[in-house]
Amino acid sequence: MEETEQPAGGLHFIGKKDELIEAKRSFRTVDGRDILIIHHQGVFYAMDCYCYHAGGTLENGDIEEINGKLCIICPKHKYKISLCEGEGLYRGRNPQEEPPVYRWYSKGVKQRTHTVTETNGEIFVKMSSQPGWIDSDYYQGEKDNSKKNEK
Ligand code: FES
Repeated sequence: MEETEQPAGGLHFIGKKDELIEAKRSFRTVDGRDILIIHHQGVFYAMDCYCYHAGGTLENGDIEEINGKLCIICPKHKYKISLCEGEGLYRGRNPQEEPPVYRWYSKGVKQRTHTVTETNGEIFVKMSSQPGWIDSDYYQGEKDNSKKNEK
């Protein structure tokens, strides 16, 4: 696993743009956190690399558009996670509807995503500073302190 260089202004150098495009998926450890860099249809994305559901590695997940959002499909149990926001999407139906129709619903943000920027052909990642617990934190070795405070 490759550990990135120390950041300037919170930006971690990840690699050369050309190399990351060619790789399509790249695995990095940033600040002790394992993340996946994805290049898809001309855009870079970065997210925690272990699926929020049960820690499956997302690296080889297919990417599909679901309900207008590009999502990675976890290879382990096929959970769908939007690339931009880390939203968990699922298909369900309301039994009170006549007839019940299957629709896509959101579980909210479940996977922590990070910001990718480019400068002069070099790619940098700024790690998420979104406060509070996001489910994928668990598989990065973090403890959910927010739940302790609920009692
Ligand atoms: Fe990803 Fe279960 S571990 S769907």
